[in-house]
Amino acid sequence: MREGKITVDVIRGMKGRQRLATLTAYDYPMAKLLDEAGIPLLLVGDSLGMVVLGYPDTTHVTVAEIEHHISAVARANPKALIIGDMPYQSYETPEMAVATARRLIAAGADVVKAEGGREIESQVKAIIADGIQFVGHLGMLPQHILEEGKYSIKGKDDAGRAKLFDDATALQEAGAFAVVLELVTPLVAKELTEQFPFMTIGIGSGMDCDGQVLVTPDLVGMFPWFTPRFVKQKRQCGTDIRSAVEEWKAEVEHVG
Ligand code: KIV
Repeated sequence: MREGKITVDVIRGMKGRQRLATLTAYDYPMAKLLDEAGIPLLLVGDSLGMVVLGYPDTTHVTVAEIEHHISAVARANPKALIIGDMPYQSYETPEMAVATARRLIAAGADVVKAEGGREIESQVKAIIADGIQFVGHLGMLPQHILEEGKYSIKGKDDAGRAKLFDDATALQEAGAFAVVLELVTPLVAKELTEQFPFMTIGIGSGMDCDGQVLVTPDLVGMFPWFTPRFVKQKRQCGTDIRSAVEEWKAEVEHVG
């Protein structure tokens, strides 16, 4: 293992002490850049389906595709802990969940993540019993987009809040060490952060989570055709690439 490698215990120990900055990485150069910038947690998320592979949503991503990208990230040999995202319908039963989780670990992930709470409790328990550490994902679940039809905020009423608490309890009892909270109302995200021992990692869920995660292309403007409302974009890399290419093209075309 690389010297200084971030471990699950290091991440757990950050609860209440240090905020956790997490970003997605899908390839070798980005993993190296994010690691050099000191990001402790890299997510090879199934968002790659939309921001890298050109699918309309994450439900098209296959286990083979995630494995391919995890391997590229792992070849960067980052200090950061690598989370491998379990694709849509790849964890329908405990047996299937363990088989998929093992494949992602064999590809180079350090831990795995899947979407859902109470409904995947037995899958999470089976993964952890197999010796693989687990990150949960609650709130808006992008893999449910086909049933739900839109990306909407969760926890707005009593029933929504109660469901989030029940799902969080299931993940805690199963042994998740961190949970992504996506599009959860800031108040409920704060309550979950205060009441559960796992690290909460928010995306579009306010500033009171233990950490934040973003899809890196959103942060740096590498997917300029759509940026979620909650993202404060730091650079316009897509625009920079387009103008660098236009400049070079003009030079080539005007030689002589
Ligand atoms: O796939 C992904 O990148 C994610 C983040 C949006 C948290 O799950």
